[in-house]
This record gives sequence, structure tokens and C-alpha cells, in this order.
Amino acid sequence: VKAHSIGLRVNINGIDYREKVPSDITLLDYLRKNRQLMGTKKGCNAGECGTCTVLLDGRAVYSCITLAIQADGKKVETIESLGDEENLDPIQQAYVDAGAVQCGYCIPGMIMATKELLNNNSHPRAQEIREALAGNLCRCTGYRQIMEAVELAARNMSGGGTEKDHGHESYPNENS
Ligand code: FES
Ligand code: FES
Repeated sequence: VKAHSIGLRVNINGIDYREKVPSDITLLDYLRKNRQLMGTKKGCNAGECGTCTVLLDGRAVYSCITLAIQADGKKVETIESLGDEENLDPIQQAYVDAGAVQCGYCIPGMIMATKELLNNNSHPRAQEIREALAGNLCRCTGYRQIMEAVELAARNMSGGGTEKDHGHESYPNENS
């Protein structure tokens, strides 16, 4: 059966798009092929590794198991919405400073999961960080430096301060 085309209206990193897309194209393939946003990586393509994580209306989702049309009328944020090489976003800078990047393949997804966490909880506890990143696999780092990177980002973004629990509204990657 051939997929039919379907109208899509979506805001990606602040820009509105309106076009026809195949009804079965994943959000990941749409971002990479149609929008040339190559920062979102394809690992397992099966909802298991997290490297394709993007924010959909602020929630971290696996874009490989999300259809592009599920983003209709919504806001998508990808790693390209953060900083660039000259001007890193505080989360990206913290990953560099903590030595949390080895091969780098998992990092765009890790950073988007981190962004969701810190948007909702500026002072996450270690257990909350572990839960927020539980859906993102890294083959290289052993996770310790990644935990440190998230803690460092939280400190830098809140200007230090005391540890407070702001609650945790949602976990990423539990999209069904
Ligand atoms: S590419 Fe592995 S979860 Fe999407
Ligand atoms: S840095 Fe290589 S998979 Fe995480």
C-alpha cells in the first residue's frame, strides 16, 4: 500500500512550515530529509537508544517512532535550536566542560532530554537526572560525566543556589 500525502503544519525551531508529507514518514526522517536538520541522529530507528530525541511541545520524544503528522499544529525543538560552535548553549557548554562527549553520537539526544528536564526542574536531584536520561543510551562514557554535565548545567543556568526540589512534571521518552 502506498502512503498518501497529507498536509502538515509545524513550527520547527521557531519557523513555521506548511507542506504535504507522506502519511508514514517519521518525524526523524522528515527533520533530516525534508528540513536538512542533521543534528538529530538515527541510531536504532526503533525507539530504544534515544539519539533521535527532540522536544514536541516541550516533551522529549523519540522522533524515530513519532510520525511527522503527529507534530501537526505543534512545536518541534531540535538540537539546532540551541547554540552553535561559536556560541554554545549552557547545556552544550556543560557537556564539553564535564568531558561528557566522546564519539558524540548520543549527545544531541542526551542534550534534548537534559533540556526537557531543566525546563521543568532547575535543581534536579541525581535520581531525577538518572530517570530523565534513562531512555538515552551511551556506549562510550559510562554516564558519570553525563550526570556531571547535567548537574553543572543546572548550576550554571540557575546561577548556583541551594538545592530545592521543584518537582518533576514529566519524564521524557515515555511516549507510547
Ligand atoms: S533512533 Fe534509537 S530511539 Fe530513535
Ligand atoms: S559519547 Fe559515544 S555514544 Fe555517547
